[in-house]
Amino acid sequence: MSNFTYYTPTKVIFGRGTENQIGELVTAQHCKKVLIHYGGGSVKRSGLLERIGASLDAAGIAHIELGGVVPNPRLSKVYEGIDLCRKEGVDFLLAVGGGSVIDSAKAIGYGMCMDGDVWDLYDHKAKAASCLPVGVVLTIAASGSEMSDSSVITKDEGGIKRGYNDDLCRPVFAVMNPELTMTLPDYQTACGCVDILMHTMERYFTSGDKLEITDSLAEGLMRTVIANSKILRDDPHNYDARAEVMWAGSLSHNGLTGCGNSANDFASHRLEHEMGGMFDVAHGAGLAAVWGSWARYVLADCLPRFVRFARNVMNVEPGATDEETALRGIEAMEDFYRFMKMPTNMRELGIDPTDEQMRTMAHMCALATGGHVGSAKVLGEADMLAIYNMAK
Ligand code: NZQ
Ligand code: ZN
Repeated sequence: MSNFTYYTPTKVIFGRGTENQIGELVTAQHCKKVLIHYGGGSVKRSGLLERIGASLDAAGIAHIELGGVVPNPRLSKVYEGIDLCRKEGVDFLLAVGGGSVIDSAKAIGYGMCMDGDVWDLYDHKAKAASCLPVGVVLTIAASGSEMSDSSVITKDEGGIKRGYNDDLCRPVFAVMNPELTMTLPDYQTACGCVDILMHTMERYFTSGDKLEITDSLAEGLMRTVIANSKILRDDPHNYDARAEVMWAGSLSHNGLTGCGNSANDFASHRLEHEMGGMFDVAHGAGLAAVWGSWARYVLADCLPRFVRFARNVMNVEPGATDEETALRGIEAMEDFYRFMKMPTNMRELGIDPTDEQMRTMAHMCALATGGHVGSAKVLGEADMLAIYNMAK
């Protein structure tokens, strides 16, 4: 078992009607003015934005709004947010939405606290010294950004999608009402379920030290997400299944399922980020499209983990050899993706990159990762290209 730091400062307010506590929660932040940040309009259509505004009004808190955040959130919107917040004297950011809105709010928060270009953080040319506080009202269980130290932004020119990680941006509170996720299109619910699973799988498939409690939590989380995703496919208004998935989404990416494991993999995520940057695909679907190819490529280097996964998570019949058992586990996960109407390759994802685009993605991925990524198997640019080709 390796040493670890587990830091989860986010106050979680979970359950039905919790969004009505927003006025109270923001009051406790002692701020002067709030920016309510949101996406393409789902929170307007559902009436959530209005309820949040009313709760802030009732608490006597000044607020302004900035909507228009798109999935794979853009740097241009972040700049717009920074300009607006400076002009208006905003000192608290309230993200009402999913990972894209939360990440955009985090980026605005960083930008407000630095003189230079906020993109320098994402380009790894600078390190943040501070971030404005961010609060969250979550509307989709997926990214885990409501408790994570991460923000992922896409630079408009060139479609360069990059993440920046720092504890400074972990939200101060996250309001999670599973009912708010019931208006999601089925496709987005499924994308979210994949992303939640992947955040734990990225911490589980490593060659580092192990900690039984962490592995058991990880396996329990994955089994829970799979079982409840299946319920949601046919019964999207099932509150308990929504709640299980929502809480799993936060626990999957707040660090809990990686404690003591010494290394994260995150290669599938880095491969997906290039696909998201170049083709603007939904993050969870992109992950599903690349995971099986990644798994088969790294299998031999991380065999015991894949065997354990096959037995303890996918519950497959053991094969004649460990490799056969492991492959059955991978196939079972792909069957689950298909059941959820998720893609298992790029064609099913709806993209058809040219050979040159594949090389560009592999090259960009290598650049973004400093040449190498992964723990189950350390991947260089040639490996990245090989996996993209397998996933075509
Ligand atoms: O924009 P609106 O109209 O709100 O519609 C959104 C959007 O089209 C819709 N939606 C959200 N809640 C809804 C709803 N529609 C109806 N009813 C609701 N209750 O869903 C669509 C997707 O929203 P988005 O925020 O993009 O989804 P998600 O939470 O999956 O976030 C994806 C982004 O997070 C990044 C991804 O790369 C991607 O950019 N990630 C962030 C992470 C982090 N900060 O820790 C980690 C992840 O690995 C991930 O990389
Ligand atoms: Zn993710």
